Amino acid sequence: MQSTSPQDEAKRVAAAQAIERFLVDGMTIGLGSGTTSRWFVRILGERVAQGLRVTGVPSSKSTGQLATEVGVALADLNDVDQLDLTIDGADEIDGKGQMIKGGGANLLWEKIVACASKKMVCIVDESKLVEGLGRFPLPVEVIPFAWRSTERHLRALFKENGLGDPKIDMRGGLEKPLITDSGHYLLDCHLEKIPEPESLGANLKQIPGVVEHGLFIGIATDAVVGHASGESEVFTFR
Ligand code: 5RP
Repeated sequence: MQSTSPQDEAKRVAAAQAIERFLVDGMTIGLGSGTTSRWFVRILGERVAQGLRVTGVPSSKSTGQLATEVGVALADLNDVDQLDLTIDGADEIDGKGQMIKGGGANLLWEKIVACASKKMVCIVDESKLVEGLGRFPLPVEVIPFAWRSTERHLRALFKENGLGDPKIDMRGGLEKPLITDSGHYLLDCHLEKIPEPESLGANLKQIPGVVEHGLFIGIATDAVVGHASGESEVFTFR
């Protein structure tokens, strides 16, 4: 399969380099979701066809489907103590490895899978690198029941944290909200700047109705940034 644009090529390069650098024969690995992770899973399928032995735990239904198509053996996370490694994309990543994820609607399973892993390697093209988080709308996964009430709590929290009165969009639109793999809604919060992502993340989790949010803090151990030229850089955070 060919990349379709310079950005897509940069995603492919990041995925290929992460496999080269971090994947070891015999590992049980978390499989990310999104277009960069789809490159990762496709290239992984090629390596498996050449004899690499790995078992994958998918972070979305669509990744599981692709992994099966390309011949990657899958396991249920219930049956696995700890994953050796997760490789997944991000919507934003800063110099400390703090990320916003969930642009592909899979943040809940992605966080569960990443947090079950010894290492989490983020694969991105350079457009995802940021000085500070928040330009990308922060996705918050909520229970459909009384979601407007949950949204009011979100607004109050943002105000208390000096984040003003941001636009909040229902993913997919009010007419036909997107339903996540776990049957929830996603509220995309246009915060623009998140000065203290760790405390905001902890506070979001206190709101009844919030299932999970897209702030991934202290989770990435490394990042591979791909470039369309074929070059890549590796960053280690801890
Ligand atoms: C899905 C995610 C993705 O990793 C994130 O949206 C990046 O996607 P892409 O690789 O398509 O740019 O968090 O929920």
